[in-house]
Amino acid sequence: MKKIVLILILAISACSPQKSITDRVTLTSPDGDLSMEFLLEDGIPMYTLKHKGTDVLLPSRLGFEIRGSMKSALIRFDGDHITKSDVKPSFLLDRNFELLCTSNSSFDEYWEPVWGEECSIRNHYHELLVELKQKESGHLLNIRFRLFDDGLGFRYEFPDKQRLTHFAIKEELTEFAMADDCFAWWIPGDYDTQEYEYGECKLSEIEENFKEQIWANSSQTPFNTSGVQTSLQMKSASGLYINIHEAALVNYPCMHLIVDGKHHTLRSWLTPDAQGWKGYMQTPCHTPWRTVQVAESAVEQLASRLILNLNEPCALEDVSWIKPVKYMGVWWEMITDKSSWSYTDIPSVKLGEFDYNQATPNGTHGANNTKVRAYIDFASEHGFDALLVEGWNIGWEDWANKSKDYVFDFQTPYPDFDIEALNQYAHSKGISLIMHHETSSSVRNYERHMDAAYKLMNKYGYTSVKTGYVGDIIPRGEYHYGQWMVNHYLHVVKEAAKHKITVNAHEAVRPTGLCRTYPNMIGNESAMGNEYQAFGGIGPKHVTILPFTRLNGGPMDYTPGIFEQNLKEWSGKNSWVNATIANQLALYVTMYSPLQMAADTPDHYREHMDAFQFIKDVAIDWEESRYLYAEPGDYLIIARKAKEDGQWFCGGVTDDNAREFDICPDFLEAGEYEAIIYADSDDAHYKTNPKGYSISKHKVTPESTIHIRMAPGGGFAISFKKI
Ligand code: NOJ
Ligand code: CA
Repeated sequence: MKKIVLILILAISACSPQKSITDRVTLTSPDGDLSMEFLLEDGIPMYTLKHKGTDVLLPSRLGFEIRGSMKSALIRFDGDHITKSDVKPSFLLDRNFELLCTSNSSFDEYWEPVWGEECSIRNHYHELLVELKQKESGHLLNIRFRLFDDGLGFRYEFPDKQRLTHFAIKEELTEFAMADDCFAWWIPGDYDTQEYEYGECKLSEIEENFKEQIWANSSQTPFNTSGVQTSLQMKSASGLYINIHEAALVNYPCMHLIVDGKHHTLRSWLTPDAQGWKGYMQTPCHTPWRTVQVAESAVEQLASRLILNLNEPCALEDVSWIKPVKYMGVWWEMITDKSSWSYTDIPSVKLGEFDYNQATPNGTHGANNTKVRAYIDFASEHGFDALLVEGWNIGWEDWANKSKDYVFDFQTPYPDFDIEALNQYAHSKGISLIMHHETSSSVRNYERHMDAAYKLMNKYGYTSVKTGYVGDIIPRGEYHYGQWMVNHYLHVVKEAAKHKITVNAHEAVRPTGLCRTYPNMIGNESAMGNEYQAFGGIGPKHVTILPFTRLNGGPMDYTPGIFEQNLKEWSGKNSWVNATIANQLALYVTMYSPLQMAADTPDHYREHMDAFQFIKDVAIDWEESRYLYAEPGDYLIIARKAKEDGQWFCGGVTDDNAREFDICPDFLEAGEYEAIIYADSDDAHYKTNPKGYSISKHKVTPESTIHIRMAPGGGFAISFKKI
């Protein structure tokens, strides 16, 4: 494990009993700009937050509704219905409290992530622990607040030694009473997917805009919602960037936010389980951190590491096997319908009863020996680390949307995929194959086979798995973001770590910084990724918002690098990639991930080898990152310094407006550099001329000014080479 440099732990004050109930306890951030108050008003716990004296959060309530205890299920039949009268009335744990005591402490350390946007992160906060007792019930509830320079984190803790031992949460009652009608970049509340484009409007307009913005161009079924997902990026009337999310989501359901637009108040709404309950707890235990990041500028928000800091340090003893990965894939061909995951066109297959060796192949199966070898050759020739191969295993004939339990065995290759020979060939060329485990959300089936599947990976030398959770969850009735699934995703990461396997989970719950604790969690999707460019297209602003929202909790396997926009002509898929080639190059810098894919096909890269050079050159692990210009929904420009050799790269993206910027590379150390600029050509446009780019070389110093123009839906990428 990397060495953690601890600077100081200050002033841990003893827990001091309150003689008379103190109604207000205050806490300030290390730099003094943020201040919060904990209030107990008539026994009701609340908190507030201010930035330089300006309200961020007005008094906001805290607490829970707890399910009454279960009796044995008594089934009644009234002639028409069967009812189960099995639950005593729920009770509220949000009132009638007395303050037992409060205590303060401070913490300051620098820690080194295994991979990341920088090589050293400061974790500096002031802490307040509030200990409460509900008067009549005697239930104990503690609330721990941590105030950093870049925001607030707090969590509920249920201490040991009380009557409350095993209980289920009916609802968490946390409020975020925004001080004004903030502008928000949001996606609708949904227990099963984050794969939406973002709405942009004030909190009070979300409900109305939901129908207009989200459903207008969507193929999904409309439904009414007043809920949104986190990480929710907002901007206050006073210009503060405020972000609400959660950190360290472990053994608890994922939190959504119900929007009370009239009062611009957000309330927690947890993902239920199959029975409608929200979280099963056993004391001592605690919730994830609820987070409120506050920044004076958009670039400051991008630099915030509050979510990572609220996670536990690395839990793995040995991390030497965890490496950032640049990869290609036999994948985009399937996404675009150019080839298939399945080996036959038979509509229904029962594993174990079906003999693939006797079956007629469909002739379009992507993961075949010849094609995989050709991809290995290309990936190896151009310096990649790995190759993902999807559709290698039996069961793809009827995998999706059938609510089928035993759909894959994760072990048996199709007849035209020679797992042993292909791995040997890949290794001989310096390439690792990435295993694909699409579970089709039959999660219990995955758990049946997981151990054997990881042993198979070890046997053939696979070091990384991409998991997927398409469709409704089995056990039936569970949701992708419920506590049961949250526990499953982490179980996979921990089990994989025992086999020295890194995990990239698609359709899993959105990240909350757990990659600090488990750095083999090297990627996640959990948002609308580049693949949606093949499912009808994504508006260009999407990639200017994701770094503020989805990426706040951890890296995304966005799968950039699509060079052929006209899918209809190429693959027959009726979709257009809404991005210029320069925009796709920029994403390797703007969308931070230690796992970066060159997602297009070798043939498309061969047509633009000069632009492809940037994908080959760009680093994937960073010593330092500088956020130069940003506004969510509009544009984003970031510069990063490679951890390996100190080389700087810069990338920028814009929405569907052309934009111009002056970049001062004052991040460079003194000296002369060759800047290779991959820019949109003057006539580039994501709709009409997405392949219009120019590559130029310039001599620059830290004092130079580089003028950049980005086309609509465009961007730019620069690599700086020391002369
Ligand atoms: C959806 C994933 O996002 C995609 O990457 C994958 O290819 C398919 N599911 C099939 O597993
Ligand atoms: Ca997906």
